[in-house]
Amino acid sequence: MALQSSDAWRTFADAVKSAHADPEQLRLIEAGQLTVDLSAQRDSTALRKAAAALIKAVNFDQARNTLLEGGIANQSENRPALHTALRSNHAPEAVRSLITQQLDRMKRFVDDANTHNRYSNVVHLGIGGSDWGPRMVWHSLRGVSNRRTLRFAANIDAHAITAALDGLDPRDTLVIVASKSFTTTETMTNAREAIKWLMQSGIKKPLDHVVALTANPKAATEFGVAPERIFEFWDWVGGRYSIWSTIGLPIALGLGWKAFEELLYGARVMDEHFQNAPIEHNAPVQLALNMVANTSVLGFSSEVICPYDARLTDFVPWLQQLQMESLGKAVDQQGNPIDVSVSPAVWGMPGTDSQHTFFQWLHQSQRGAPVDFIVCLEPEHQLLNHHQQLLANCLAQRAALWRGKSAQASLDELKHKHDESHAQWLSQHCVHPGGRPSTLIVLPKLDAHRLGALLALYEHKVFVAGVLWGLNPFDQWGVEFGKRLAHQLLQNDPEQIKDFDASTRHWLTSVMGRAPEKT
Ligand code: F6P
Repeated sequence: MALQSSDAWRTFADAVKSAHADPEQLRLIEAGQLTVDLSAQRDSTALRKAAAALIKAVNFDQARNTLLEGGIANQSENRPALHTALRSNHAPEAVRSLITQQLDRMKRFVDDANTHNRYSNVVHLGIGGSDWGPRMVWHSLRGVSNRRTLRFAANIDAHAITAALDGLDPRDTLVIVASKSFTTTETMTNAREAIKWLMQSGIKKPLDHVVALTANPKAATEFGVAPERIFEFWDWVGGRYSIWSTIGLPIALGLGWKAFEELLYGARVMDEHFQNAPIEHNAPVQLALNMVANTSVLGFSSEVICPYDARLTDFVPWLQQLQMESLGKAVDQQGNPIDVSVSPAVWGMPGTDSQHTFFQWLHQSQRGAPVDFIVCLEPEHQLLNHHQQLLANCLAQRAALWRGKSAQASLDELKHKHDESHAQWLSQHCVHPGGRPSTLIVLPKLDAHRLGALLALYEHKVFVAGVLWGLNPFDQWGVEFGKRLAHQLLQNDPEQIKDFDASTRHWLTSVMGRAPEKT
């Protein structure tokens, strides 16, 4: 049945519309050592009841069991989505020994590199899920480590790979080729470039400096990587959920094995919360319900992420991939069009930079967007004055979005400084509508454990939203389509190109000199 026409949905939507965020009501959820403050999201007794009924109506318990127990959560690709098994104590029997075997191999590799002081430099080549996870974790936590230099190159634009290799000593460099499919154009092209660089630098056996992280060991072997240098994961680990797998190798090399384990452990604690906490106190479920309410009922078309922590800059693109590749769909699992607005665009930037970039739009544009504020209570530095200002700014922005400011309040202020008519006029420009929803997520500090919990919190939020909207969060057919067209254009084959439009053919001719006229 269409979502919008179900009773549970209609009751939920009505309850959302009539609820409000009560400024005197503190709503906190503790989850995996994080605190999620939902006070600035709409709430009411009727809404809580309707949300619980909606969760029941979409068979959430069954969907969660399917996910966690390795059932077919990804229906259009007919496979499980078992990323939680990678960090679990209770992984399903069928996968436990596979996981342990690869983690043990990975650990031996890291120990060996450390013992023999190998690889001062690590160049990680991957894209999308094979890049954002390790890149974001490294950039978030590298402040506490000076073990190795890590560089990342994802883009096919050669500025990326040349910058990544620039100035490194090839004798002391490990090249990691990370690709689930081991066919992704960007990664394979960059890998070939890195091997060329090793050879041109006089390295006789360049592939001795390369390891592969992949679910396609056959392709990695054909590429020339020795079997003992291939660390596997599996098709039941989605690319954007692969950080917990051998894709985490650069994290273990850069931050230490213990940090990698802590990351997994933090995520596991969040998994346990997700599995066991009652719906009203279940952080991922509540985050998803708020997203669904804000998007499908209140009409917000985007969500803003503002970590008030400069170390979390890459958290935004990591989440963009996680959420937008997962939820950017228009049909449900059965292939029927979804009849409510779903999947807000995700964008953002750390505070306080974001305040001077787009907060004007959040405060005073016609609609604005819900914001997730993320803060870490304890910084890694000693400059407490900076940290207090950072936190105060975060709280102030959140309060301003929530509270707003009326024309009358502005007028009362302005009339002391201006004549009546000028004050009247100016007060209209100072109206802040307020009532703009936000969530505050508080980490005691930014370490591997808490970061693991934060990532898992968002993974589960995305999953629950997928269940509520009835869509498959684990496929990405849209990306596959674009990849295929690029491949066609590169064939230099008139047959492959003739069905493209005039503009594409024109630019192929001008830029690449290869488009034939349409006959
Ligand atoms: O962007 C599409 C995608 O398929 C992602 O899901 C994936 O993380 C990325 O490409 C890279 O794919 P691979 O790991 O196979 O190189």
